[in-house]
Amino acid sequence: MAFSFRRSDFPDDFIFGAATAAYQIEGASFGGAGPSHWDTFAATPGNVVNAETGAIACDHYHRYGEDLDLLRSGGFDAYRFSTSWARVMPDGKNVNPEGLDFYDRLADATLERGLNPFLTLYHWDLPAALADLGGWRNRDVASWFADYSSIVMDRIGDRMAAVATINEPWCVTWLSHFWGIHAPGLRDIRAAARSMHHVLLAHARAMEAMRAAGHGNLGIVLNFEHANPASDAAGDVSAAARYDGFYNRWFIEAITRKTYPEVILEGFAGHMPDGYEKDMEAISAPLDWLGVNYYTRSNVAADPEAAWPSLKSVPGPLPKTDMGWEIYPDGLYGFLTRLHRDYTGETPIIVTENGMAWDDHLVDGRIDDRERIAYFDTHLAAVRRAIADGAPVKGYFGWSLLDNYEWALGYGKRFGMVHVDYDTQKRTPKASFEAFRHAIGGN
Ligand code: FCB
Repeated sequence: MAFSFRRSDFPDDFIFGAATAAYQIEGASFGGAGPSHWDTFAATPGNVVNAETGAIACDHYHRYGEDLDLLRSGGFDAYRFSTSWARVMPDGKNVNPEGLDFYDRLADATLERGLNPFLTLYHWDLPAALADLGGWRNRDVASWFADYSSIVMDRIGDRMAAVATINEPWCVTWLSHFWGIHAPGLRDIRAAARSMHHVLLAHARAMEAMRAAGHGNLGIVLNFEHANPASDAAGDVSAAARYDGFYNRWFIEAITRKTYPEVILEGFAGHMPDGYEKDMEAISAPLDWLGVNYYTRSNVAADPEAAWPSLKSVPGPLPKTDMGWEIYPDGLYGFLTRLHRDYTGETPIIVTENGMAWDDHLVDGRIDDRERIAYFDTHLAAVRRAIADGAPVKGYFGWSLLDNYEWALGYGKRFGMVHVDYDTQKRTPKASFEAFRHAIGGN
Protein backbone atom coordinates (compact mmCIF):
# COMPACT_ATOMS: atom_id res chain seq x y z
CA MET A 1 0.00 0.00 0.00
CA ALA A 2 1.36 3.40 -1.01
CA PHE A 3 0.69 7.01 -0.19
CA SER A 4 -1.51 9.00 -2.54
CA PHE A 5 1.04 11.81 -2.75
CA ARG A 6 4.54 12.37 -4.08
CA ARG A 7 7.11 14.78 -2.74
CA SER A 8 6.38 17.00 -5.76
CA ASP A 9 2.82 17.56 -4.47
CA PHE A 10 4.36 19.72 -1.73
CA PRO A 11 6.28 23.01 -2.05
CA ASP A 12 9.92 22.54 -3.11
CA ASP A 13 11.35 23.49 0.27
CA PHE A 14 8.85 21.39 2.28
CA ILE A 15 10.63 19.29 4.92
CA PHE A 16 9.74 15.68 5.69
CA GLY A 17 11.02 14.35 8.96
CA ALA A 18 10.47 11.95 11.82
CA ALA A 19 10.37 12.84 15.50
CA THR A 20 11.49 11.23 18.74
CA ALA A 21 12.13 12.34 22.33
CA ALA A 22 15.06 11.58 24.61
CA TYR A 23 13.36 9.79 27.50
CA GLN A 24 11.25 7.70 25.13
CA ILE A 25 14.17 6.20 23.19
CA GLU A 26 17.65 6.84 24.61
CA GLY A 27 17.83 4.71 27.73
CA ALA A 28 17.96 6.89 30.83
CA SER A 29 20.29 4.52 32.70
CA PHE A 30 23.22 5.15 30.36
CA GLY A 31 25.86 7.85 30.19
CA GLY A 32 25.55 9.31 33.66
CA ALA A 33 21.99 10.60 33.31
CA GLY A 34 20.35 11.53 36.59
CA PRO A 35 16.86 10.54 37.71
CA SER A 36 14.03 12.55 36.22
CA HIS A 37 10.53 13.00 37.59
CA TRP A 38 9.44 10.29 35.13
CA ASP A 39 11.57 7.77 37.02
CA THR A 40 9.96 8.70 40.33
CA PHE A 41 6.51 8.85 38.77
CA ALA A 42 6.94 5.36 37.28
CA ALA A 43 8.22 4.03 40.62
CA THR A 44 4.93 4.95 42.25
CA PRO A 45 2.39 2.13 41.91
CA GLY A 46 -0.45 2.71 39.48
CA ASN A 47 1.04 5.56 37.52
CA VAL A 48 2.58 3.71 34.57
CA VAL A 49 1.44 0.47 32.96
CA ASN A 50 3.64 -2.33 34.36
CA ALA A 51 5.69 0.35 36.17
CA GLU A 52 7.78 0.60 33.01
CA THR A 53 10.47 3.28 32.69
CA GLY A 54 12.80 4.71 30.09
CA ALA A 55 15.84 3.01 31.69
CA ILE A 56 16.69 1.08 28.51
CA ALA A 57 13.95 2.15 26.07
CA CYS A 58 15.27 1.71 22.51
CA ASP A 59 18.92 1.92 23.58
CA HIS A 60 19.23 4.80 21.16
CA TYR A 61 22.08 6.12 23.34
CA HIS A 62 24.20 3.36 21.82
CA ARG A 63 22.34 2.76 18.56
CA TYR A 64 21.81 6.30 17.30
CA GLY A 65 24.03 5.69 14.26
CA GLU A 66 21.84 2.83 13.06
CA ASP A 67 18.70 4.88 13.74
CA LEU A 68 20.00 7.86 11.79
CA ASP A 69 20.98 5.53 8.92
CA LEU A 70 17.34 4.46 8.80
CA LEU A 71 16.16 8.06 8.54
CA ARG A 72 18.53 8.69 5.68
CA SER A 73 17.55 5.53 3.86
CA GLY A 74 13.91 6.59 4.15
CA GLY A 75 14.67 9.80 2.27
CA PHE A 76 13.80 12.06 5.19
CA ASP A 77 15.16 15.62 5.31
CA ALA A 78 15.17 16.19 9.04
CA TYR A 79 15.31 14.58 12.45
CA ARG A 80 13.44 16.02 15.43
CA PHE A 81 14.94 14.91 18.74
CA SER A 82 15.21 16.27 22.25
CA THR A 83 18.02 16.70 24.72
CA SER A 84 17.39 15.35 28.20
CA TRP A 85 17.71 17.87 31.01
CA ALA A 86 18.37 15.05 33.49
CA ARG A 87 21.16 13.68 31.27
CA VAL A 88 22.82 17.07 30.83
CA MET A 89 22.35 18.12 34.48
CA PRO A 90 21.82 14.93 36.53
CA ASP A 91 21.45 16.75 39.85
CA GLY A 92 19.76 19.76 38.30
CA LYS A 93 22.85 21.91 38.95
CA ASN A 94 26.09 20.46 37.65
CA VAL A 95 26.83 19.53 34.06
CA ASN A 96 27.50 15.92 33.11
CA PRO A 97 30.18 16.16 30.38
CA GLU A 98 29.29 12.68 29.10
CA GLY A 99 25.75 13.88 28.46
CA LEU A 100 26.84 16.88 26.43
CA ASP A 101 29.34 14.70 24.55
CA PHE A 102 26.51 12.42 23.53
CA TYR A 103 24.48 15.26 22.03
CA ASP A 104 27.58 16.58 20.33
CA ARG A 105 28.08 13.19 18.64
CA LEU A 106 24.39 13.03 17.79
CA ALA A 107 24.47 16.48 16.19
CA ASP A 108 27.44 15.55 14.02
CA ALA A 109 26.02 12.15 13.12
CA THR A 110 22.74 13.78 12.06
CA LEU A 111 24.51 16.29 9.82
CA GLU A 112 26.83 13.63 8.39
CA ARG A 113 23.75 11.91 7.02
CA GLY A 114 22.46 15.07 5.40
CA LEU A 115 19.64 15.44 7.93
CA ASN A 116 18.58 18.78 9.41
CA PRO A 117 18.67 18.59 13.21
CA PHE A 118 15.48 19.93 14.86
CA LEU A 119 16.19 20.22 18.56
CA THR A 120 13.62 20.31 21.35
CA LEU A 121 15.15 21.39 24.65
CA TYR A 122 12.44 20.02 26.95
CA HIS A 123 10.50 16.90 26.18
CA TRP A 124 9.51 16.17 29.75
CA ASP A 125 12.57 14.77 31.55
CA LEU A 126 12.81 17.26 34.42
CA PRO A 127 15.65 16.36 36.82
CA ALA A 128 14.16 14.84 40.00
CA ALA A 129 16.26 17.28 42.03
CA LEU A 130 14.39 20.18 40.45
CA ALA A 131 11.06 18.43 40.90
CA ASP A 132 11.96 18.31 44.61
CA LEU A 133 12.12 22.11 44.56
CA GLY A 134 8.61 22.32 43.15
CA GLY A 135 9.44 21.83 39.47
CA TRP A 136 7.07 23.71 37.19
CA ARG A 137 5.19 25.12 40.22
CA ASN A 138 8.26 27.11 41.25
CA ARG A 139 8.77 30.38 39.43
CA ASP A 140 12.54 29.76 39.54
CA VAL A 141 12.06 27.03 36.95
CA ALA A 142 12.26 29.79 34.36
CA SER A 143 15.87 30.64 35.19
CA TRP A 144 16.79 26.97 35.70
CA PHE A 145 15.47 26.21 32.24
CA ALA A 146 17.21 29.20 30.66
CA ASP A 147 20.52 28.09 32.18
CA TYR A 148 20.08 24.54 30.97
CA SER A 149 19.09 25.76 27.50
CA SER A 150 22.21 27.92 27.30
CA ILE A 151 24.41 25.01 28.32
CA VAL A 152 22.99 22.81 25.57
CA MET A 153 23.05 25.54 22.95
CA ASP A 154 26.63 26.56 23.77
CA ARG A 155 27.61 23.04 22.86
CA ILE A 156 25.41 22.13 19.87
CA GLY A 157 23.49 25.28 18.95
CA ASP A 158 25.91 26.04 16.12
CA ARG A 159 24.68 22.95 14.24
CA MET A 160 20.91 23.06 14.78
CA ALA A 161 18.56 23.80 11.86
CA ALA A 162 15.77 24.77 14.24
CA VAL A 163 15.28 24.85 17.99
CA ALA A 164 12.12 24.56 20.10
CA THR A 165 12.13 25.43 23.77
CA ILE A 166 9.37 23.22 25.16
CA ASN A 167 7.34 20.33 23.82
CA GLU A 168 3.61 20.54 24.52
CA PRO A 169 3.26 22.95 27.45
CA TRP A 170 -0.32 21.70 27.84
CA CYS A 171 0.93 18.21 28.68
CA VAL A 172 3.70 19.58 30.90
CA THR A 173 1.08 21.46 32.93
CA TRP A 174 -2.64 20.65 32.70
CA LEU A 175 -2.23 16.95 31.93
CA SER A 176 0.49 16.56 34.58
CA HIS A 177 -0.63 18.96 37.34
CA PHE A 178 -4.44 19.00 37.06
CA TRP A 179 -5.39 15.65 35.58
CA GLY A 180 -2.45 13.86 37.20
CA ILE A 181 -1.89 11.59 34.20
CA HIS A 182 1.78 12.43 33.57
CA ALA A 183 4.65 13.21 35.94
CA PRO A 184 4.55 14.65 38.54
CA GLY A 185 1.00 13.29 38.76
CA LEU A 186 -0.62 16.15 40.64
CA ARG A 187 -4.35 16.81 40.65
CA ASP A 188 -4.30 20.35 41.93
CA ILE A 189 -5.81 23.44 40.32
CA ARG A 190 -3.32 25.75 41.98
CA ALA A 191 -0.38 23.72 40.68
CA ALA A 192 -2.02 23.72 37.25
CA ALA A 193 -2.52 27.49 37.12
CA ARG A 194 0.99 28.21 38.31
CA SER A 195 2.72 25.72 36.06
CA MET A 196 0.70 26.97 33.05
CA HIS A 197 2.20 30.38 33.58
CA HIS A 198 5.69 29.29 34.61
CA VAL A 199 6.10 27.06 31.58
CA LEU A 200 5.61 30.09 29.36
CA LEU A 201 7.92 32.20 31.48
CA ALA A 202 10.55 29.46 31.13
CA HIS A 203 10.05 29.53 27.36
CA ALA A 204 10.49 33.32 27.45
CA ARG A 205 13.67 33.28 29.52
CA ALA A 206 15.24 30.58 27.34
CA MET A 207 14.32 32.54 24.19
CA GLU A 208 15.96 35.65 25.65
CA ALA A 209 19.14 33.77 26.56
CA MET A 210 19.39 32.09 23.16
CA ARG A 211 18.70 35.32 21.27
CA ALA A 212 21.33 37.11 23.36
CA ALA A 213 23.82 34.40 22.40
CA GLY A 214 23.01 34.95 18.72
CA HIS A 215 21.05 31.76 18.02
CA GLY A 216 18.29 31.82 15.42
CA ASN A 217 15.32 29.86 14.13
CA LEU A 218 13.81 29.51 17.60
CA GLY A 219 10.27 28.41 18.39
CA ILE A 220 8.03 26.33 20.62
CA VAL A 221 6.00 23.17 20.04
CA LEU A 222 2.32 23.35 21.07
CA ASN A 223 -0.20 20.54 20.89
CA PHE A 224 -3.75 21.04 19.73
CA GLU A 225 -6.84 18.86 20.04
CA HIS A 226 -10.05 19.75 18.29
CA ALA A 227 -12.80 20.39 20.87
CA ASN A 228 -16.01 19.02 19.40
CA PRO A 229 -19.21 19.65 21.38
CA ALA A 230 -20.79 16.26 22.09
CA SER A 231 -24.19 17.70 21.08
CA ASP A 232 -25.79 20.99 20.05
CA ALA A 233 -27.00 21.58 23.61
CA ALA A 234 -25.81 24.95 24.92
CA GLY A 235 -24.12 23.29 27.91
CA ASP A 236 -22.02 21.03 25.68
CA VAL A 237 -21.13 23.89 23.36
CA SER A 238 -19.84 26.03 26.23
CA ALA A 239 -18.03 23.02 27.74
CA ALA A 240 -16.23 22.57 24.41
CA ALA A 241 -15.34 26.27 24.46
CA ARG A 242 -13.73 25.83 27.89
CA TYR A 243 -11.84 22.78 26.62
CA ASP A 244 -10.65 24.81 23.63
CA GLY A 245 -9.62 27.54 26.07
CA PHE A 246 -7.36 25.50 28.31
CA TYR A 247 -6.07 23.22 25.57
CA ASN A 248 -5.78 25.24 22.38
CA ARG A 249 -5.98 28.95 23.24
CA TRP A 250 -4.05 29.43 26.48
CA PHE A 251 -0.49 29.13 25.18
CA ILE A 252 -0.84 30.60 21.69
CA GLU A 253 -2.83 33.61 22.91
CA ALA A 254 -0.24 34.37 25.57
CA ILE A 255 2.49 34.25 22.93
CA THR A 256 0.70 36.15 20.18
CA ARG A 257 -1.68 38.45 22.13
CA LYS A 258 -0.15 38.79 25.61
CA THR A 259 -3.38 37.58 27.19
CA TYR A 260 -4.88 34.41 28.61
CA PRO A 261 -8.44 33.40 27.66
CA GLU A 262 -11.01 34.88 30.07
CA VAL A 263 -12.96 31.60 30.23
CA ILE A 264 -9.93 29.98 31.83
CA LEU A 265 -8.78 32.88 34.02
CA GLU A 266 -12.26 32.78 35.57
CA GLY A 267 -11.71 29.18 36.63
CA PHE A 268 -8.18 29.90 37.84
CA ALA A 269 -9.27 32.90 39.94
CA GLY A 270 -7.21 33.06 43.13
CA HIS A 271 -4.65 30.56 41.84
CA MET A 272 -2.59 32.48 39.30
CA PRO A 273 0.81 33.66 40.51
CA ASP A 274 0.79 37.27 41.74
CA GLY A 275 1.79 39.80 39.14
CA TYR A 276 1.78 37.33 36.27
CA GLU A 277 0.63 40.13 33.94
CA LYS A 278 4.09 41.67 34.13
CA ASP A 279 5.56 38.61 32.40
CA MET A 280 3.30 38.75 29.37
CA GLU A 281 5.54 41.11 27.42
CA ALA A 282 8.49 38.69 27.63
CA ILE A 283 6.27 35.69 26.90
CA SER A 284 5.04 37.31 23.70
CA ALA A 285 8.45 37.85 22.12
CA PRO A 286 8.21 36.82 18.46
CA LEU A 287 8.80 33.23 17.39
CA ASP A 288 10.71 32.30 14.25
CA TRP A 289 8.47 29.30 13.78
CA LEU A 290 5.66 27.44 15.52
CA GLY A 291 5.60 23.67 15.97
CA VAL A 292 2.17 22.04 15.89
CA ASN A 293 1.52 18.58 17.29
CA TYR A 294 -1.83 17.12 16.34
CA TYR A 295 -3.36 13.70 16.90
CA THR A 296 -7.10 13.74 17.48
CA ARG A 297 -10.26 15.48 18.62
CA SER A 298 -12.22 15.23 21.82
CA ASN A 299 -15.99 15.07 22.13
CA VAL A 300 -16.77 17.32 25.04
CA ALA A 301 -19.90 17.24 27.19
CA ALA A 302 -20.91 19.37 30.14
CA ASP A 303 -20.59 17.74 33.54
CA PRO A 304 -22.47 20.12 35.84
CA GLU A 305 -21.84 17.97 38.94
CA ALA A 306 -18.08 18.22 38.56
CA ALA A 307 -15.97 21.15 39.74
CA TRP A 308 -14.77 23.65 37.17
CA PRO A 309 -14.22 23.23 34.25
CA SER A 310 -17.29 20.98 34.67
CA LEU A 311 -16.84 18.85 31.59
CA LYS A 312 -15.92 15.39 30.42
CA SER A 313 -14.83 13.74 27.20
CA VAL A 314 -17.25 11.15 25.87
CA PRO A 315 -16.65 8.47 23.23
CA GLY A 316 -17.25 9.62 19.66
CA PRO A 317 -18.33 7.76 16.52
CA LEU A 318 -15.15 7.93 14.40
CA PRO A 319 -12.66 5.07 13.90
CA LYS A 320 -10.07 5.00 16.67
CA THR A 321 -6.37 4.29 17.03
CA ASP A 322 -4.91 1.93 19.60
CA MET A 323 -4.89 4.90 22.01
CA GLY A 324 -8.68 5.10 21.63
CA TRP A 325 -8.15 8.43 19.85
CA GLU A 326 -10.58 9.30 17.08
CA ILE A 327 -9.02 9.72 13.63
CA TYR A 328 -9.97 13.22 12.49
CA PRO A 329 -7.70 14.77 9.82
CA ASP A 330 -10.03 17.77 9.38
CA GLY A 331 -8.91 18.88 12.82
CA LEU A 332 -5.36 19.29 11.55
CA TYR A 333 -6.58 21.35 8.60
CA GLY A 334 -8.66 23.39 11.01
CA PHE A 335 -5.77 24.22 13.34
CA LEU A 336 -3.28 25.01 10.58
CA THR A 337 -5.66 27.48 8.96
CA ARG A 338 -6.93 28.86 12.28
CA LEU A 339 -3.43 29.47 13.62
CA HIS A 340 -2.40 31.23 10.42
CA ARG A 341 -5.59 33.31 10.31
CA ASP A 342 -6.08 34.19 13.98
CA TYR A 343 -2.67 34.03 15.59
CA THR A 344 0.59 33.52 13.74
CA GLY A 345 0.09 35.15 10.32
CA GLU A 346 3.07 34.44 8.10
CA THR A 347 5.22 32.85 10.82
CA PRO A 348 6.21 29.43 9.46
CA ILE A 349 4.33 26.49 10.93
CA ILE A 350 5.87 23.05 11.11
CA VAL A 351 3.82 19.98 11.97
CA THR A 352 6.24 18.58 14.53
CA GLU A 353 4.20 15.49 15.49
CA ASN A 354 1.39 13.51 13.94
CA GLY A 355 0.88 9.77 13.91
CA MET A 356 -0.99 6.86 15.43
CA ALA A 357 -0.55 3.91 17.74
CA TRP A 358 -1.57 0.54 16.38
CA ASP A 359 -1.34 -2.99 17.69
CA ASP A 360 1.31 -3.96 15.14
CA HIS A 361 2.45 -7.54 14.71
CA LEU A 362 5.41 -8.98 12.87
CA VAL A 363 4.16 -11.52 10.34
CA ASP A 364 6.93 -13.33 8.44
CA GLY A 365 9.30 -10.55 9.43
CA ARG A 366 7.07 -7.78 8.05
CA ILE A 367 4.60 -5.31 9.50
CA ASP A 368 1.80 -4.34 7.21
CA ASP A 369 0.57 -1.24 9.06
CA ARG A 370 -1.84 -0.06 6.40
CA GLU A 371 -3.97 1.72 9.03
CA ARG A 372 -0.97 3.92 9.82
CA ILE A 373 -0.31 4.56 6.13
CA ALA A 374 -3.91 5.72 5.78
CA TYR A 375 -3.55 7.92 8.86
CA PHE A 376 -0.41 9.64 7.58
CA ASP A 377 -1.89 9.92 4.10
CA THR A 378 -5.14 11.61 5.16
CA HIS A 379 -3.32 13.97 7.53
CA LEU A 380 -0.79 14.91 4.87
CA ALA A 381 -3.74 15.61 2.57
CA ALA A 382 -5.06 17.96 5.27
CA VAL A 383 -1.65 19.68 5.32
CA ARG A 384 -1.78 20.11 1.54
CA ARG A 385 -5.26 21.62 1.77
CA ALA A 386 -4.09 24.05 4.44
CA ILE A 387 -1.12 25.09 2.30
CA ALA A 388 -3.41 25.59 -0.70
CA ASP A 389 -5.57 27.84 1.50
CA GLY A 390 -2.60 29.99 2.44
CA ALA A 391 -1.26 28.50 5.69
CA PRO A 392 2.55 28.76 5.70
CA VAL A 393 3.19 25.12 6.61
CA LYS A 394 6.84 24.33 5.93
CA GLY A 395 7.29 20.78 7.13
CA TYR A 396 5.83 17.61 8.59
CA PHE A 397 7.34 15.20 11.11
CA GLY A 398 5.76 11.82 11.67
CA TRP A 399 5.56 10.59 15.24
CA SER A 400 7.55 8.51 15.60
CA LEU A 401 10.65 7.11 13.97
CA LEU A 402 10.68 4.17 16.39
CA ASP A 403 8.24 2.35 18.61
CA ASN A 404 9.07 3.74 22.03
CA TYR A 405 8.12 4.42 25.64
CA GLU A 406 4.65 5.90 25.49
CA TRP A 407 4.80 7.57 28.91
CA ALA A 408 2.08 6.39 31.32
CA LEU A 409 1.15 3.64 28.85
CA GLY A 410 4.64 2.14 28.81
CA TYR A 411 5.82 0.07 25.86
CA GLY A 412 2.41 -1.32 24.93
CA LYS A 413 1.48 1.45 22.49
CA ARG A 414 3.42 1.38 19.24
CA PHE A 415 3.70 4.65 17.30
CA GLY A 416 6.80 3.85 15.23
CA MET A 417 7.36 3.77 11.49
CA VAL A 418 10.02 1.29 12.55
CA HIS A 419 9.17 -1.64 14.80
CA VAL A 420 11.39 -2.24 17.81
CA ASP A 421 11.74 -5.66 19.43
CA TYR A 422 12.50 -4.61 23.00
CA ASP A 423 14.18 -7.94 23.83
CA THR A 424 16.72 -7.84 21.01
CA GLN A 425 16.53 -4.13 20.07
CA LYS A 426 16.11 -5.23 16.46
CA ARG A 427 14.64 -2.53 14.23
CA THR A 428 12.25 -3.54 11.44
CA PRO A 429 10.91 -0.82 9.14
CA LYS A 430 7.14 -1.11 8.82
CA ALA A 431 5.16 -0.73 5.60
CA SER A 432 4.51 2.90 6.59
CA PHE A 433 8.24 3.57 6.57
CA GLU A 434 8.52 2.00 3.11
CA ALA A 435 5.59 4.13 1.96
CA PHE A 436 7.49 7.26 3.00
CA ARG A 437 10.63 5.99 1.32
CA HIS A 438 8.67 5.47 -1.88
CA ALA A 439 6.85 8.81 -1.78
CA ILE A 440 9.67 11.11 -0.71
CA GLY A 441 12.53 9.50 -2.56
CA GLY A 442 14.66 7.44 -0.24
CA ASN A 443 16.81 4.64 -1.61
C1 FCB B 1 2.70 13.54 22.31
C2 FCB B 1 4.10 13.54 22.86
C3 FCB B 1 4.97 12.43 22.35
C4 FCB B 1 4.20 11.14 22.18
C5 FCB B 1 2.92 11.38 21.42
C6 FCB B 1 2.12 10.13 21.17
O1 FCB B 1 1.85 14.16 23.21
O2 FCB B 1 4.75 14.75 22.57
O3 FCB B 1 6.05 12.31 23.22
O4 FCB B 1 4.00 10.54 23.39
O5 FCB B 1 2.13 12.31 22.10
